[in-house]
Amino acid sequence: MISKKTILTGDRPTGKLHLGHFVGSLEARVRLQHEYNQFVMIADTQALTDNFENPAKVVENVYEVAMDYISVGIDPNLTTIFIQSQVPELTELTSYYMNLVTIGRLERNPTVKTEIGQKGYRDSIPAGFFCYPVSQAADITAFKAELVPVGDDQVPMIEQTNEIVRRFNRIYNTECLVECKAFLSKTSRLVGIDGKAKASKSLGNTIMLSDSPDEIKKKIMMMYTDPNHLKVSDPGQVEGNVVFAYLDAFATDKNEIDDLKTHYAKGGLGDMVIKNKLNDILQNILKPIAEKRSTLTPKYITEILQIGTENARKIASKTVAEVRSVIGLRY
Ligand code: TRP
Repeated sequence: MISKKTILTGDRPTGKLHLGHFVGSLEARVRLQHEYNQFVMIADTQALTDNFENPAKVVENVYEVAMDYISVGIDPNLTTIFIQSQVPELTELTSYYMNLVTIGRLERNPTVKTEIGQKGYRDSIPAGFFCYPVSQAADITAFKAELVPVGDDQVPMIEQTNEIVRRFNRIYNTECLVECKAFLSKTSRLVGIDGKAKASKSLGNTIMLSDSPDEIKKKIMMMYTDPNHLKVSDPGQVEGNVVFAYLDAFATDKNEIDDLKTHYAKGGLGDMVIKNKLNDILQNILKPIAEKRSTLTPKYITEILQIGTENARKIASKTVAEVRSVIGLRY
């Protein structure tokens, strides 16, 4: 029997998931679960690193995120969905890896750097937050994952994980840990509806997977287009136009979108036409997701999380046993 390769990926439960997650990685997970041994982790411990004063928000969103997963088609029979904090083996691995990373290296992680700026931490960075790339390395390596489907902001985490893997294997003279690759989707970063760099729940510029049809429409009508496109007959700017960015990400008929772009750039195509087009497409994608969501009960979600977490723990304990043994912690 050829064993399947392993995937591990995860999300911080700090809010419901949105369209950025959908094109960035959820779609890929639904596809890949058939060919790979897939683990999807709800990263509540990591979410606490910048939400430790508000644990209730994190806990609440563990269930929301699990519902989002199941609603989009992640199948608990094919994918192991689990809760990070309930697998304490991950914390143990983190402490061994912490020795293999320097403060200087952590400071150079561009994603952490950006987040520190966004959160205004500067001189008072919580150590837990600063070190989360190390715990992320533990998440990935505990399952010996070879593939990590993530958005492009997570690529530095993968690089740092692989540095830890190489260092660990060299120092302890082993091949026990496995290097991984990021799996980027074609739209690994979706712009926010306001035209800001990235759709993000903390910036409030996203369409949530669980938004109602009215909310979806309202957000589309608010989308940033071309501020100089005042009259329908004016030539419009396609570049930087959020509606076109979303059409590129979600429309299946690329030729039709190319025609719309040409028409828009030439003039004579109103914003309402492209917004209505996008609305039709997104309503169609989100409708079955909302329908599936409405069938899910809290009991079912609790059950799949329990089963998934138990299974995840078994695998992680095996890796931890190996890791202790190669370090020489055998008593
Ligand atoms: N950092 C990821 C996020 O912000 C969540 C995460 C935690 C993760 N551990 C991971 C992603 C391991 C991939 C692999 O959403």
